[in-house]
Amino acid sequence: MLTDLPALTDPLLYSHGDPHAVWRRLRRESPVSWHEYGDHGGYWAVTTHAAGLEVLTDWERFTSTKGIFLRPNFKDPYPGAGTMMALSDPPRHDLLRKAIMGLFTVRAIATMEERTRGVVRGALRGVVETGHCDFVRDIAARIPLAVSAELLSISMDDVEMLAKVTTEAAENSTDIDGIEAQLAHFEILKHYSEIIEEKRRNPGRDLVSALVAAQAEGLDITDEEVILTCDNVIVAANETTRQAVGAGMLALLESPAQWAALRAGELRLKTAAEEFLRWTAPVTHILRTAQRDTVLEGVPIAEGDAVTVWLPSLNRDEKVFDQPDRFLLDRTSNHHVAFGGGGHFCIGANLARLTIRVMLDELARLPAEIEVSGPPQHIASHILGGLTSLPLAFRPH
Ligand code: HEM
Repeated sequence: MLTDLPALTDPLLYSHGDPHAVWRRLRRESPVSWHEYGDHGGYWAVTTHAAGLEVLTDWERFTSTKGIFLRPNFKDPYPGAGTMMALSDPPRHDLLRKAIMGLFTVRAIATMEERTRGVVRGALRGVVETGHCDFVRDIAARIPLAVSAELLSISMDDVEMLAKVTTEAAENSTDIDGIEAQLAHFEILKHYSEIIEEKRRNPGRDLVSALVAAQAEGLDITDEEVILTCDNVIVAANETTRQAVGAGMLALLESPAQWAALRAGELRLKTAAEEFLRWTAPVTHILRTAQRDTVLEGVPIAEGDAVTVWLPSLNRDEKVFDQPDRFLLDRTSNHHVAFGGGGHFCIGANLARLTIRVMLDELARLPAEIEVSGPPQHIASHILGGLTSLPLAFRPH
C-alpha cells in the first residue's frame, strides 16, 4: 500500500486537489492497490485500462449486485440490489436491458437531433443576450433533461422540478441513506408512481411504457422496481451529461488552439465529442464485488472484497493513450471508458454523444467571444466528477 497518498474517497482531493497526480502514481507503482475505508475494512482500487476492463467485463468474478458506488456503509444491503438493472447480473440484467434497449439505439436517438439542437440553441441564445452566465447551472444543467424528457416519461411541465431534485439526489449520492438524498429520490419516485397507470392505459415510446409492456409480456418486474429503475435512469442521465458538457467547456476554453480549430470548422465533431468524454469522465469510479477468490494483475483478491475501477485514471493510461494529459479534439485512436465497459456499458451513450456533438456544433457557430470570468468550482465527490460552477462572459461580435 502507498501510505503517502491522499485517500481516493477524500472529497477535498476532487474539489481542491489533483486526483490525476494520485492516479498517475498508482498506475505506475500499484495498479491494483488496497485502501482502508470507514469501518468496513477497505477496497481495492484499479487504475490501469487493462485491469479496469478485466473487472468490468467479467461479471462472473466481479458482481454488480452488491452496489456500484463506494459509500461509507457499502457493506450494508443496497436498495434494489440484485433486482434493478444497474445492480443486477445476467440473466436478470440481460432481460431488463432488453426491455428498454430499443429506446436507446443509434437509430432511435438520431430522431432526437432536431429537438436537441432546439434546446441547446435556445439555452445559448439566452445567455449571449444577457452577456454572462454560469455555464454549469444555466446551460449544462438545463439541457440533458429538456432533451430526454419524453424518453424518460416526463412532461415538459415537470422538467424544471425533476432537474432540480435529480441534482439534489446526485449531490448527496455519497450518502444515499441521508435525509437530503431520500427526499430528492422521494420526489422522483412520486412522479413515476403517479404516471405508471396512465402509461399502462396510454403507452408511448418512453421508459415507463417500455417497462410496463415488458411486465405485461411476463418480465418478472414489480411496479416498485419499474419506478426504482426510472429513478436510476433519470439520475444516471442528467448528472453525467451535465458534467461532460460543463467540464468539457472549461477544457475547451483553456485550450485556445483547440477552441480556434473548432470555430474554424477544422474538427470532426464526433471525434471531438469523444475527447470531451475521455477528458471529463464524469463517473469517477465504479464498484464491483468479488464473487470468488481470484487474481488481478498478480494481486490476490478474496471473495467478498470490494473492487473499484477509477475511470478517469483508465482514460489517462499512458499504455493506451498517446500524450494522455493533452486535450486533443482530433484524437482518433480513443478507446476511452467514460461509459464503462462490458454488459453495463452505458445504455444512454448514444444520447450523451448526440448532446455533446450538438453542443459543440452550436458553440462553434455562436456569434460571440467567450471567456472564463470567475474561478470554476470543482465538485467535492469521489463518485461524480466535474464542476458545480463555471462563470463565463459572452461578447457578441
Ligand atoms: C456523458 C454522459 C454519461 C456518462 C459519462 C455515463 C456513464 C455511465 C457509466 C460509466 C455506466 C456504467 C455503470 C456500471 O458499469 O456499473 C453507465 C451506465 C448507465 N447509464 Fe450512463 N452515462 C452517461 C449518460 C447517460 C444517459 C444520457 C442515460 C440515459 C438516458 C444513461 C443511462 C445509464 C443507465 C440506465 C446505465 C445502467 C446500464 C446497465 O446497468 O446496463 N447514461 N453510464
